[in-house]
Amino acid sequence: MISRRKVALGLVASTGLASPVGAAVRTPKQTKGPFYPKTLPSESDADLVRIGNGPPATGEEIEITGRLLGLDGRPISGGFVELWQANTYGRYSSSSAASIGPLDPNFQGYGVVETDDEGRYRFLTIKPGEYPGRTRHLHFKVGGPGFESLATQMYFAGEPGNERDFIRKRIRDPEARDSVTVAFAPSDESGIPSGHFEIVVGQ
Ligand SMILES: [Fe+2]
Repeated sequence: MISRRKVALGLVASTGLASPVGAAVRTPKQTKGPFYPKTLPSESDADLVRIGNGPPATGEEIEITGRLLGLDGRPISGGFVELWQANTYGRYSSSSAASIGPLDPNFQGYGVVETDDEGRYRFLTIKPGEYPGRTRHLHFKVGGPGFESLATQMYFAGEPGNERDFIRKRIRDPEARDSVTVAFAPSDESGIPSGHFEIVVGQ
């Protein structure tokens, strides 16, 4: 008898979107940190670069795509993916530490999307600036029907500060650390740097 799990893994492999091996690595939990927005911005859509029809935020535009998956590789549709991050100057909208860098009134700083039928999500945003004590990173929180929510952080491959970052170092398993470290390359469609971040949740 073919198990449901094997069927699910077979489906994942047949799409060519991700290897079943990659999908099986549970995304490590990372601290939510102090900068989750205390009040959500007036707009919280998938495009963090613009608020309404306003001018674009300052900085380098990037795209993040990915899927929310269960440990068995099945896509989780109808889940949520939240992203919050520093602006190009390394400053969070929710932080009062003005010395880190200026606010950017055009940067949304936070977005939340629902995963589609194939568990996919997509954000347009600005490459975050670094701030003292941390390597460059993005904050994510995800959840889905029947899944406990998970907060994690995503890192940028090739950043010199990655290996000494005290929060990234808490992920002991090298495979798990790699799973939250994403390489960016120009997107075929838009030409902007694009990274793919698969998020795997489960017991
Ligand atoms: Fe942070």
